[in-house]
Amino acid sequence: MRILFVGDVVGKPGRQAVAALVPAIAKERRIDLVILNGENAAGGAGLTAEIARELRDAGADVITNGNHVWDQRAFMKEIDGLEYCLRPINLPPGNPGRGWAIVKGALVVNAIGRVFMAEQDDPFRALDALLVELGSSAPAVKILDWHAEATSEKLAMGWHLDGRVSAVLGSHTHVPTADARILPKGTALVADTGMVGPRDSVLGVDAAIIVRRYLDHLPHRFEVADGVVQFNSVVVEVDDVSGRARSIERLDREWSP
Ligand code: FE2
Repeated sequence: MRILFVGDVVGKPGRQAVAALVPAIAKERRIDLVILNGENAAGGAGLTAEIARELRDAGADVITNGNHVWDQRAFMKEIDGLEYCLRPINLPPGNPGRGWAIVKGALVVNAIGRVFMAEQDDPFRALDALLVELGSSAPAVKILDWHAEATSEKLAMGWHLDGRVSAVLGSHTHVPTADARILPKGTALVADTGMVGPRDSVLGVDAAIIVRRYLDHLPHRFEVADGVVQFNSVVVEVDDVSGRARSIERLDREWSP
């Protein structure tokens, strides 16, 4: 099975680049499953049902989330009707939505880190518990969108799950890392996939606004930047029977609106 995992899609420029690039990449690379992180897809913060459908029309089979999952309040009511949208599995009980799904024969899980982020339930034990709960009924192919800030926590999850899941794919920082590899027991790992968002920016946001914020420490309204879009993703090939990753490869493009 060949999986395309696309980093955090930022606002309208990110969505446009996804619609322009993903169908062709999926065809060219014979992709079986497309997962993308949509937590910044609505104006840079959060997700809506309408935008989720737009991303699905562009080829996403599963849309994952992160710390911005409830930034668009209506999504708390909408998510339960969108079986292909996940939120982190280790949000506390009482959160709507779900943290995992089986799509096209693969288990897809979304989890969120705790280092330099808001307090959440333990993501390491949440994954342990899920794997125990599903047991032998779980598909061989298991992919985790690991939405975390600290590279240490991100790599630690890879080692924690090595041999138990097919891939631990980092999201959240919007900065792609050059460490994509396969761990000894067959788990593909990348600390951060990156983003699909304006290249000349700070993490997708208008650079001048962020610079001003660092200078005056006042609250400023964030606006998604414009111009050329960087498209960051990884392609993972997994053995359908053993669930072990055969390869992980970065796939980075640029797209002009
Ligand atoms: Fe995030």
